[in-house]
Amino acid sequence: MRLGFGFVEVGTLTPRPQEGNPLPRLFRLVDKRAVINRLGFNNDGHADAAERLAARAGKMGIVGVNIGANKDSPDRIADYVEGVNVFESFADYLAVNISSPNTPGLRSLQSGEDLGKLLKAVVAARNGYAAITATNRKPIFVKVAPDLTEDQIEEIADAARDRRADGLIVANTTLARDGVEGHRHAGEAGGLSGRPLMRRSTWVLARFRRALGPDFPLIGVGGVEDARTAIMKIEAGADLVQLYTGLVYGGPHLPARILKGMLRVLDIADVDSITELRDRRVDDLLAAPPPA
Ligand SMILES: Cc1cc2nc3c(=O)[nH]c(=O)nc-3n(C[C@H](O)[C@H](O)[C@H](O)COP(=O)(O)O)c2cc1C
Repeated sequence: MRLGFGFVEVGTLTPRPQEGNPLPRLFRLVDKRAVINRLGFNNDGHADAAERLAARAGKMGIVGVNIGANKDSPDRIADYVEGVNVFESFADYLAVNISSPNTPGLRSLQSGEDLGKLLKAVVAARNGYAAITATNRKPIFVKVAPDLTEDQIEEIADAARDRRADGLIVANTTLARDGVEGHRHAGEAGGLSGRPLMRRSTWVLARFRRALGPDFPLIGVGGVEDARTAIMKIEAGADLVQLYTGLVYGGPHLPARILKGMLRVLDIADVDSITELRDRRVDDLLAAPPPA
């Protein structure tokens, strides 16, 4: 928080602790400003994380909790529901991660029918919790993959709208290797993030903005590394921006650098508010061909 981020998201957390995949499972493609990871949700489980989150209760800052399913779970939807119930009171929002490429089969939850079932269950759990505790409903964001066709984007948008998800996070890491072909790590299994993900994830973001209209909250993520790329996300339809790999290469001063750079862009463009930039390039991106 003190680095200058407007909000922070922790996770992915699964009900039971799990070790994740064997080492090595994380590869830096330094000259590409990219990472390939196949961590596989290594985490200490809900109870342990809940204890740590409880210890910072009442402290400043917006903290989202990203929830998932154990690799060997017999009922993945039940794992997400448990995540809602355990973290609802600690989280400012919940991120339902159905797009990690490192838990076999997880991404199939993105199909319209499965996503409908999942959202019905997690939204009901959230609403029930809020009613019982007489607290505000915490927003539920669904985190999607960047490897989606136009038809899949429509299907997910329909399910998110129909089942009243509060927003989408676009996007997770990609299985594609565009832009890193021939690199010595390009053949590693896992999700690719960082600079080579920018184009694809932004293309998908613009399509979700078109599919969901101007009022549906979207978080843009994938390849943000400076003020220019952060602004590109907003121009492609993002209300909020996240980054991960950018911090690996940019270091702890990155958020401050991005914020200063964005202010400069606003000054030069004589724009009073960043919201004026939102959607500016959606039409251009809609006209662009799909990423290879
Ligand atoms: C090492 C590493 C671990 C990640 N773990 C998770 C995770 O547990 N849950 C999740 O939703 N996304 C995870 N991601 C994906 C990032 O949150 C983000 O969506 C993706 O990397 C694209 O953004 P970036 O290009 O800024 O890194 C991970 C990414 C990296 C590089």
